Amino acid sequence: MSHRNVAMDEQSRAAVPTRPAPPPPPVASRNGKRADELQNISTEFVVPQHSLRVLIATQEFNEFRILDRIYTEHPELGIKTIGWCDNGINLYQAAIDGDADVVIVDPETRSFQHEDVQRLWIYPNKPIVTIAAVPPQSGLANTLKQLGAVDLVTRPLTERSAHELVAKCHVGVQEALRYRASVGYIPQMDSKTAQVIASRGWQQGVIVVWGPKGGVGKTLVACNLAVALGVIGNRRTVLVDANMAGGNDHHHFYQSIPQTQLGKNISALADRALLHSRYGPIQPSATGMLGQRPILPSDEVDAHLFRYGESQLKLLIGIPRQHMGGYECFSDENGRAFFRELVASLRQFEDFIVVDIGQDANVPLHLAALEFADYVYVVVTPDRSSILATREALDTLFKHVKLARSKFRLVINRYHDSSGISRAEIVKALDMPEIATIPDGGPAVSNIVNSGKPLMLDHRGQVADGIISIASTIYPPTRDIWTNRGKLGKKPQAKNRGALGNIKAGLRWLVLGEGNKP
Ligand SMILES: Nc1ncnc2c1ncn2[C@@H]1O[C@H](COP(=O)(O)OP(=O)(O)O)[C@@H](O)[C@H]1O
Ligand SMILES: [Mg+2]
Repeated sequence: MSHRNVAMDEQSRAAVPTRPAPPPPPVASRNGKRADELQNISTEFVVPQHSLRVLIATQEFNEFRILDRIYTEHPELGIKTIGWCDNGINLYQAAIDGDADVVIVDPETRSFQHEDVQRLWIYPNKPIVTIAAVPPQSGLANTLKQLGAVDLVTRPLTERSAHELVAKCHVGVQEALRYRASVGYIPQMDSKTAQVIASRGWQQGVIVVWGPKGGVGKTLVACNLAVALGVIGNRRTVLVDANMAGGNDHHHFYQSIPQTQLGKNISALADRALLHSRYGPIQPSATGMLGQRPILPSDEVDAHLFRYGESQLKLLIGIPRQHMGGYECFSDENGRAFFRELVASLRQFEDFIVVDIGQDANVPLHLAALEFADYVYVVVTPDRSSILATREALDTLFKHVKLARSKFRLVINRYHDSSGISRAEIVKALDMPEIATIPDGGPAVSNIVNSGKPLMLDHRGQVADGIISIASTIYPPTRDIWTNRGKLGKKPQAKNRGALGNIKAGLRWLVLGEGNKP
């Protein structure tokens, strides 16, 4: 398998004729001020004297070669390619190390991290702008614009694209510098987010949503938590519907899920696992040698997941009928082994695994989920039966099953002051940290759920806010992204803004949440 990255690509680049260029002047020399000083002063932007430094991240080396040749042969275009990157994992660091002004990114590049677009844009020394190279008529164009790409170009990249990109790069960089120098630039919010991301102030993990009572909101919380992490927070997230009393997570997404997908559910996958464990996982590997193939290879797991739109969220749909929970593949040791293998496989590629399980902890798969979870978010409602049932069930889990108390967290759902039981009383009775209290949203919530589109995506009320509180305990930037997302302010003058005006208005909307989405 080829795992070329930027460092190794230096070798391949040796074959590409490049002319030596003087090291680029530091940002300060562009206009005599450090970028971080600029935010307070509204200065005229001075056209940079040197060529723009451009990093190219595509799957196809040939695309890089075409661009590199043209920009090398025509220095008057003012663009210098600084390298090729075929693995998104390296993109951010390569852009920083190479002092890039622009990255041209094919979002289908392996391991491309969506948040890199914003991280580069808010890089403290100078903005590094992203231009997305997307296949024609692809939904990716919109996604990339939303992520903050300043412009788009259509793949495959040809000589024509090389010329088209010249203006896009120069305009993109000029606008970004002008924006950073303007009073409207507010770096605090974004740099805080960036810090968290940079310091990895979060951990990958398995989050199980559970509660020993039915109808308390486990499914609502699990589905929307997964949306908060995977769609709003843009982290690779899988929602696993492991409720053995019948799966219903897909109802929260049914507007988008084709009927044909429903057959690729957790039961189909558990059957595969049972088959592999029975008839041996040993298969010849690609090299012709006998290699150990896991009971649940990642490609097989991935083939059973449904990707939600263009987002980072995927779903493993639950069992469509209750009796399927009694299948052999879920029973006793089989159920436990399946869950263990499933998690091991998902952990390789996903940041967060959110698992919705049914109320009954005696079901082998549910118990396995509680056991393999990094965190269990226990959902209770403010009524005696829910609280007492939860306390009893937890006692058993701590005493007899020996689950670690420290991984349990409390979510109070459908809370209202008139219930006669206060939050403090609930926390005291259950003796675990409370991470969120979600108010009772009344029948409107069921109405939204019935619409078949997750609540988080269209609603900004207090129920959604409570979900964000939960998500930000797992992935802290979610809160900032949420607060600044799609804020409606005064509508910018739409008329005759021109291309630059459009870009500017778009950026204001993206970064500040000011104005309307252009
Ligand atoms: N905070 C809330 N406000 C209003 N209705 C809610 C709230 N949380 C859950 N519900 C509703 O309660 C019902 C049961 O929720 P669900 O998530 O299916 O519970 P569980 O998975 O625990 O059985 C659903 O109709 C859901 O829309
Ligand atoms: Mg449920």
